[in-house]
Amino acid sequence: MAGRRTVRPLSPLGWLPAFDVGEERLDREHRKIMRDINELTDLIFEGPSWPSVVAKCQTLAKDTIDHFTTEEEVLEKTGYPQFGPHRSIHRHLRRQLGDVVGHLLRVRHASRTDIEAVLHLRSMLLDHFFRKDFAYKSHVSNVIRSSSRTTSIAAKLRRDRGEENAP
Ligand SMILES: [Fe+2]
Ligand SMILES: [Fe+2]
Repeated sequence: MAGRRTVRPLSPLGWLPAFDVGEERLDREHRKIMRDINELTDLIFEGPSWPSVVAKCQTLAKDTIDHFTTEEEVLEKTGYPQFGPHRSIHRHLRRQLGDVVGHLLRVRHASRTDIEAVLHLRSMLLDHFFRKDFAYKSHVSNVIRSSSRTTSIAAKLRRDRGEENAP
């Protein structure tokens, strides 16, 4: 595929404030994954070498798997009612990512089917973000909002008690 240049059929995905779920680490990691996805799309359609596509898929898979750990920690800590099912979906996705990347690493000369496998990986991650992660957005932002209210009330009470260094 080296040297080939084709029209890019998939537009880059811009980050909108509405995509934020309200937890700083999760938002930072989601933005990074979205950037990786855009870079991967560029590599596929703008005349790259196959090894650079595979390397980007490896980065994307690693970042995503690391991100699942952060996300599970936040969902568990905030008592997300769908935590168990969400973690099961992550486990399934981890296996799928491993299978796709394992396959790509064995490919020497990419065929159309191999490119489709890369596009499938891309769709899997976007689908998870927009359908499954978005489902916890209101839960996480409500918990964070009410815990920051509780924290500021606790700080005010400490100040009222004359504990000067209360934040
Ligand atoms: Fe998730
Ligand atoms: Fe996520």
